[in-house]
Amino acid sequence: MRIAVVGAGTRCIYLMDLIEKHKFQIVFPTVVAVADIKDDAPGLARARDMNLFVTKDYDDFFARDDIDLIVELTGDLNIYNDILTKKGKNVRAIAHTTALLFWEISGVSSLQEETRQRLQKKQTMYDVMINDMIQEDVMVIASDYRILDVNEPLLKKMGLKQEDVIGRFCYEITHHQSKPCSGEMHPCPLNQVLQTQKPSQATHIHLDKDKNKLHFSISCYPLMENDKVEGVIEVSKDITKDIQIQTSMMQQEKMVSIGRLSAGVAHEINNPLTTILTSSMLLQEDIEADSSMYQELKTISNEALRCRKIVKSLLDFSRQTRPAKVPSNLNHVVMESFVLTRKQAAFNDVTVEANLSENLPHVNIDKDQIQQAVINLTLNAIEATPAGGEVRLSTRHLTDKNKIEVSVRDTGAGISPENQDKIFEPFFTTREDGTGLGLAITHGIVEQHGGTIHVKSRIGEGTSFFIWLPLDTGEDDDA
Ligand SMILES: Nc1ncnc2c1ncn2[C@@H]1O[C@H](COP(=O)(O)OP(=O)(O)OP(=O)(O)O)[C@@H](O)[C@H]1O
Ligand SMILES: [Mg+2]
Repeated sequence: MRIAVVGAGTRCIYLMDLIEKHKFQIVFPTVVAVADIKDDAPGLARARDMNLFVTKDYDDFFARDDIDLIVELTGDLNIYNDILTKKGKNVRAIAHTTALLFWEISGVSSLQEETRQRLQKKQTMYDVMINDMIQEDVMVIASDYRILDVNEPLLKKMGLKQEDVIGRFCYEITHHQSKPCSGEMHPCPLNQVLQTQKPSQATHIHLDKDKNKLHFSISCYPLMENDKVEGVIEVSKDITKDIQIQTSMMQQEKMVSIGRLSAGVAHEINNPLTTILTSSMLLQEDIEADSSMYQELKTISNEALRCRKIVKSLLDFSRQTRPAKVPSNLNHVVMESFVLTRKQAAFNDVTVEANLSENLPHVNIDKDQIQQAVINLTLNAIEATPAGGEVRLSTRHLTDKNKIEVSVRDTGAGISPENQDKIFEPFFTTREDGTGLGLAITHGIVEQHGGTIHVKSRIGEGTSFFIWLPLDTGEDDDA
């Protein structure tokens, strides 16, 4: 099929590109002639380079017998009607709107392509995009939300190729949604740019493939063409790590102030508490064991003892001692915790098992502190497990991470996802007699050792806590 084109603008170039690159199966089109009244139209230059027939006046087409199809690309309906009246009866004609329709169906509209080509000319964009000067994710998006270009780092992250992305809607690709982002949590920065014609910024939360929250800072810069926003350059930066550091610093500050407050309160309460306890015990000695007064005094001393336990936890929590680390066998520490919690386990009719890895390398730890951490986790596990259930303590060498893992797993009630965010906060408890300090203390200890603690839990199935401790690097970090 031999084609003549009327109008040698960017649409003509696009058509020529399309014909050149597309693998046709049924018809085999080729452009043979191009007409445009403007001598410097880009399509004419291209046609001259390819030795095609070039003219200012499309009337010249009608005298030729090597044309099967005339494509009108100026968009002028009068010209199209004129072609229809003058063409030979074996020659077909396509109006520019029909051509646009087919290009739209084929994935990328010609307008898109025009915009893309115009924007590509902007040097700023190419400095950023092509030279890969920045490692942030960069996309160029047209005002109709279609992606015009995307840089390598972003393609790599998404595991997609350029052709999977270009021409698709941005919300489809980045949010797997069928409509643009909206609302306070997910404002669309492109929309803001369109409204204000000024750069805009937003923070979005995306989920990775494991459903972990990723925080993105998204900045949009307008690309102006004839005082209109034609599109935007969108630069996104993963700020998850910065947010985590910020949260952890805030958490640490909070812990320090709660620690100070607790230490002060605990210290002040300890003395009157001891007086209450000893006085009630002394009174009990003078009274018959079966009298009602004796029972009430017993309640007083029991409650005072309970307060003493809380005060002890507060003091443990507030004690900001730096760990005195020595290279130790973690299995010994876990075994001692195992022995110390056995009584409580038997009382609750829960089996505790230790599954310790042999040949565990020594790790630099404060044995007393890590023992306290493991005991806290084991007591929680025992508390959460119904009679007949099982708690398992394990150790493992994570060779790829150069860390040692201690895990405490139970077959208990589990922790809801909302509560999983709160359990390390001081004073968060769901137990009637809990102080909510066990996990806050454990978290503090692990952090002081440069380690991490995380939890996996499912309601009704059980909970696993994992402590990861870095292996001795040979440096004396107590120095
Ligand atoms: N293994 C577990 N299974 C289910 N829930 C748990 C488990 N471990 C902790 N929790 C939840 O986390 C909360 C906080 O635990 P944490 O050890 O800090 O305090 P506590 O056990 O309530 O009191 P205490 O200060 O006496 O330890 C618990 O109240 C419970 O809701
Ligand atoms: Mg506890």
